[in-house]
Amino acid sequence: MSQLVSPSLLSANFGNLQDDLNMINGSNADWLHIDIMDGVFVPNLSFGPPVLQYVAKLCNKPLDVHLMVVNPMNYLEPVKALGARVMNIHYEAETHLHRAVMKIKESGMMAGVTLNPSTPVMMLKDIIADLDLVLLMSVNPGFGGQKFIAHTVNKVRELRELIEATSSSALIEVDGGVNVETGRLLADAGSDVLVAGNAVFKANDPVAVIDSLRAL
Ligand code: DX5
Ligand code: ZN
Repeated sequence: MSQLVSPSLLSANFGNLQDDLNMINGSNADWLHIDIMDGVFVPNLSFGPPVLQYVAKLCNKPLDVHLMVVNPMNYLEPVKALGARVMNIHYEAETHLHRAVMKIKESGMMAGVTLNPSTPVMMLKDIIADLDLVLLMSVNPGFGGQKFIAHTVNKVRELRELIEATSSSALIEVDGGVNVETGRLLADAGSDVLVAGNAVFKANDPVAVIDSLRAL
């Protein structure tokens, strides 16, 4: 099994984004993970459309957008305008998940639903067949550089079983505290996409770390 790798821009050097984006462009990264926060759904702010328009212009990788906001569907148009490949909304932030997922798909993006560490995989039972991707949080969202929650490995196994039982084509993506060591556990359990912030951007050789994660 090999993994798709989606380095998380949140851990990049905001004082010189162009250098980090050049590194990503020259690497084998599959996507670029973009964390949008509103200071309400999570206790932090990150970046919004004005900054991201430049990122989208300077980056040649598909964007994998992770919305950590209340009312995530208010951001459908701005996310679509970035040309994003994937739009991830949190299960915990959207009451009308089925309608939201349909709208994301109609707009031409892959629809992803994200689960916080405390939300059981089974909550997706009645929507899994409609999803393109499930993003499992392996930390509590809001900050980079946190410790991996080991129970996520069991959730990956459980989600893989649910996907197989329902003939869903959803990809399993994992976000938070992922490095080569934790990534190996996730890949063995059945993940498809690994998000990595600190493990990539704080490494001496980020391009090599991306390759090591892809090989898992
Ligand atoms: C956390 C974000 C992550 C974060 C991951 O809320 O969703 O994408 O950037 O960073 P690391 O890999 O450092 O845990
Ligand atoms: Zn994220």
